[in-house]
Amino acid sequence: MFAPSLIQVASLTVGSYFIVALAAASSINNPFDVTPFTVNLSAEIPRLKSLVKNTRLPTKALYFVGADKGIELDVLRQLQTEWATTFDWETQQLEFNQLSHFTAVIEGQSVHFVHEKSGQPDAIPVILLHGWPGSFHEFLPVIKPLTQSANVGGKNVSYHVVVPSLPGFVFSSPPPLNWTVDDTARIFNTLMTEVLGYSTYAGSDVAYSLYSLFNATVRAAHLVFLPFVSPTAEEIAENNITLSVLQEVTEQRVTEFNAIGEGYLIEQSTKPNDIGLALYDSPVGQLAWLAGKIKLWSDPRAGTPPSVLNNTAILTSVSLYYLTDSFLSSVWIYAQNSLKTVYTKAPTDAPLLFTQYEYNVGLWPQEYVAKVGNLVSYTVHDFGGHFPGLDNPPALIGDIRELAQYFKA
Ligand SMILES: *[C@@H]1O[C@H](CO)[C@@H](O)[C@H](O)[C@H]1NC(C)=O
Ligand SMILES: *[C@@H]1O[C@H](CO)[C@@H](O)[C@H](O)[C@H]1NC(C)=O
Ligand SMILES: *[C@@H]1O[C@H](CO)[C@@H](O)[C@H](O)[C@H]1NC(C)=O
Ligand SMILES: *[C@@H]1O[C@H](CO)[C@@H](O)[C@H](O)[C@H]1NC(C)=O
Ligand SMILES: *[C@@H]1O[C@H](CO)[C@@H](O)[C@H](O)[C@H]1NC(C)=O
Ligand SMILES: *[C@@H]1O[C@H](CO)[C@@H](O)[C@H](O)[C@H]1NC(C)=O
Repeated sequence: MFAPSLIQVASLTVGSYFIVALAAASSINNPFDVTPFTVNLSAEIPRLKSLVKNTRLPTKALYFVGADKGIELDVLRQLQTEWATTFDWETQQLEFNQLSHFTAVIEGQSVHFVHEKSGQPDAIPVILLHGWPGSFHEFLPVIKPLTQSANVGGKNVSYHVVVPSLPGFVFSSPPPLNWTVDDTARIFNTLMTEVLGYSTYAGSDVAYSLYSLFNATVRAAHLVFLPFVSPTAEEIAENNITLSVLQEVTEQRVTEFNAIGEGYLIEQSTKPNDIGLALYDSPVGQLAWLAGKIKLWSDPRAGTPPSVLNNTAILTSVSLYYLTDSFLSSVWIYAQNSLKTVYTKAPTDAPLLFTQYEYNVGLWPQEYVAKVGNLVSYTVHDFGGHFPGLDNPPALIGDIRELAQYFKA
């Protein structure tokens, strides 16, 4: 729910490329200790596979019930079997390492990020932000395509793509317990401007904080989720807003989410250590907790084109959480932040683009999005859910390319 969103940055300043170029030379010229990073968790795999294989699951028919009661037991068992046997971590790791990864130290936090540059000198810098339960992995299908030139409304559009890991997620260090998404926005703004030398950008939750707090540097934003509680069907009707047929489907999901989908949210917000410690060294436990949400929040057609969110992708996501010790620190994001109930406008004139994916578990009609920013584009896609980078990568690539129409450095 602390959702993916995308932020885009303004023009780049030559100086900062300098910082990166000089990084290897000396620590004096590398104040953020920018260091190239290779994903290598291979040594942990035998233990992981052994834990997965040796985890017992119930066999009593009694508990084989529908997904409305939590992850289905046969779905979990199938995932467990694949994880223990055919799932090949090395293939995933090789794919991660096709990208350029770095770490930097900002305000004492070690921040991991992917940085893929376009070959085009006039490419637009963009920062893509994941949420919970996501990671940089969520954006794998869109990163390279966005660095390539595309003709968008007569403009030749390409991006320098930055995908950081939120503090406490995968390779970024866990932050102090009083850390909020506004703090994350601040260090990500530093990452884009001072570490990488791009002059600006924005997003949802974290991304929305960037959009709202850094109006000089974030010069356009595309969001798929807002850190504001989405309105109920009654509120929408009271405001005389008519939903489209696609939005009605989303509204149904939101109604169901509000009724029977928020247990995890209350748990993670109030007793993060209970769930965080209970599942701390249990890969299959984390799988049950995370895969249930991933499945429920994505398009029911997940795994069929254009979705690439199949079992391999789910197991990769959960492996990343388990192997990097992220589960506990990741659930804390709910204890540290909450969705706002009062809609307020961000103090920025930067254009805001919003996409409602039909199977997301939040619905924000255009009228509501317009209350929180300078809304210039509102799109509804009929395929995809809470993880558009995996649920419908071509649509997300299109959404992000549309940013270029509105971006002024
Ligand atoms: C990962 O580390 C192991 C040693 O633990 C080494 O043998 C292997 O080559 C490394 N792989 C990568 C991709 O760096
Ligand atoms: C964009 O411009 C580059 C060179 O500036 C060119 O190589 C590329 O073909 C162009 N792409 C499109 C889609 O126009
Ligand atoms: C947050 O916690 C850190 C370390 O635990 C402390 O140094 C810092 O002063 C705290 N910040 C606030 C705003 O309370
Ligand atoms: C909705 O429409 C009704 C009937 O036209 C009107 O009385 C009411 O004030 C409207 N509500 C809003 C919030 O515009
Ligand atoms: C999942 O999709 C990827 C391509 O996105 C494919 O390489 C992999 O084999 C698929 N996994 C399964 C279990 O079908
Ligand atoms: C940008 O934010 C500052 C406060 O940080 C505010 O004073 C200014 O009016 C904002 N600019 C716009 C265009 O809203």
